[in-house]
Amino acid sequence: MTSSLPPLAPSEVEGNSAEGSVPRHVAIIMDGNGRWAIRRSLPRVAGHRAGAEAVRRTMQAAVDSGVEVLTLYAFSSENWRRSEDEVSDLKGLMRFYLERELGTLQKEKVRLRLIGEPAAFGNELYERLQQAVEETRDNDRLTLVVALNYGSQGEIAGAAKALARAARDGALDPETIDIAAIEGLLHTCDLPPLDLLIRTSGEVRLSNFLLWQAAYAELHFVDTLWPDFDEAAFNSALGEFARRQRRFGGR
Ligand code: IPE
Ligand code: IPE
Ligand code: MG
Repeated sequence: MTSSLPPLAPSEVEGNSAEGSVPRHVAIIMDGNGRWAIRRSLPRVAGHRAGAEAVRRTMQAAVDSGVEVLTLYAFSSENWRRSEDEVSDLKGLMRFYLERELGTLQKEKVRLRLIGEPAAFGNELYERLQQAVEETRDNDRLTLVVALNYGSQGEIAGAAKALARAARDGALDPETIDIAAIEGLLHTCDLPPLDLLIRTSGEVRLSNFLLWQAAYAELHFVDTLWPDFDEAAFNSALGEFARRQRRFGGR
């Protein structure tokens, strides 16, 4: 089966560690807003509001560090299990920060992208999001990917369904289905491979985020609650990444 293995990219060749290198693609599971608020005897929405400020700081840190893509898990396909009030607060905050930060995205040359199924948030918010994606499409300093109503298992199931339909319709020989065929149908298909995945708040799980894409990502778990995350915490994660040795199955 060795012949079916794709050749390693230059950054993946034997003996080439991540040493000294800046990850091209960093993703973050921004967790701990609720606990941050509870510790201050505040409503959960105050934690989400403070979390949005952490998004601003982190985006700026990513721009300054030369990271190409920052992917943020903002709402999972399982977060609908929360109360109607909390979901509505989160939608309101998304809208508010989108309006407030659009100028910053333009000034810092940040291109907004979405993954997941954000249409479920309703026409008004969805159209505004799409418009922001359109307005920032030519920015080239950082790609900010926001995962909205995203679930990795659903994403992979969607790819399987598309392949099965093509095979049923005679447009695809099932024998030709390989890793690239599935990857090409994921929401992240045009993004560089995920290098570093960070989760805040002390939880050590992936919660249905980028399961396929994390195959060879470096994982970084910190106890910091998301609203307390800042440039120093981001740079510390990049520093640890630079000390890791990536092997990709080689020696
Ligand atoms: C992450 O913080 C934000 C979202 C999932 C939208 P949480 O709201 O999950 O905070 P905790 O985990 O309850 O502290
Ligand atoms: C993951 O956090 C989702 C986001 C950060 C948007 P959760 O708080 O929803 O994850 P679990 O429920 O603790 O696994
Ligand atoms: Mg949580």
